[in-house]
Amino acid sequence: MIESSNFRTKTMPLKHGAGHMPVLGFGTLTPDAVATISATRDALEAGFRHFDCAERYRNEREVGKALQAGFSAGGIAREDIFVTTKLWNTNHRPERVEPAFEASLDRLGLNYLDLYLIHTPYAFQPGDDQDPRDRNGNILYDQGMTLLKTWGAMERLVDNGKCRAIGLSDIALDGLLPIYESARIKPAVVQVEAHPYLPETELLEFCKEKDIVFLAFAPLGHGITPGPLEDPVVAAIAARVGRTPAQVLLAWAVQRGTALLTTPRTAARALENFNISALPDDDSMKW
Ligand SMILES: NC(=O)c1ccc[n+]([C@@H]2O[C@H](COP(=O)([O-])OP(=O)(O)OC[C@H]3O[C@@H](n4cnc5c(N)ncnc54)[C@H](OP(=O)(O)O)[C@@H]3O)[C@@H](O)[C@H]2O)c1
Repeated sequence: MIESSNFRTKTMPLKHGAGHMPVLGFGTLTPDAVATISATRDALEAGFRHFDCAERYRNEREVGKALQAGFSAGGIAREDIFVTTKLWNTNHRPERVEPAFEASLDRLGLNYLDLYLIHTPYAFQPGDDQDPRDRNGNILYDQGMTLLKTWGAMERLVDNGKCRAIGLSDIALDGLLPIYESARIKPAVVQVEAHPYLPETELLEFCKEKDIVFLAFAPLGHGITPGPLEDPVVAAIAARVGRTPAQVLLAWAVQRGTALLTTPRTAARALENFNISALPDDDSMKW
């Protein structure tokens, strides 16, 4: 049974007493600067308090501007929101981690982060080019760099107090296990793609067992056609309970114990994706 049927204020505790993550998160992977500012503003106004950013998205400055505008408009304080950003593949060398983190903080206009993630487990050759390639167009990897070395530098960010929690993204269970076993500070969050067509059940069970928050991106099945949004089972449940297919998919994600990210680009979609509450038990069990 679900203890609260309204997911708008629901949070999940993070390991090591690192605070609580609101389960409904707004993802900032939006295509241009103007769209980033308006979508972030609309998300704040709709009620989102969890913002997922990345150095890779090249729009941390715009997200920061929209957040600062929300703070100055009154009613929202820095402590009221949960902000994540991510270390890109070209900054995996331990000596590059803190400068990359500080640069993200500066662009966001913040003085601490709630969560910092290693964006992917792949280390690229260091430098300013986010996609270093050889003359044949092949990505240049940073041979010899291991995720464990990068993780040690992530742990030092928590030690120095500017980052409350650390985690991994785009990682499979066989990549997570060695980090989990060797880490001094265990990953608090794992961010991966998950929806009814890609449930990642084994990884979710491991996360539950170890009190790691499983944060689902693409919970609407981004990029799959026809995808979960067009699924007849989802459509039938949506019609029966008087919600939209997106609201059914987002409720399903929360009810199976994950947090989630969506990228609504309009004020109406932001309200739709934030106004999420529990499905009746029978409906939530039909996948
Ligand atoms: N760690 C990683 O590698 C990684 C990778 C991808 C994403 N992410 C994070 O996860 C966030 C969410 O990812 P995502 O953009 O794939 O998630 P998503 O919200 O599942 O997918 C976005 C797509 O869904 C559509 N959409 C949003 N709300 C809808 C609604 N209520 N009804 C119908 N369609 C709707 C959007 O359409 P429109 O374009 O028409 O608005 C867009 O095409 C990103 O912003 C980013 O922060 C992380």
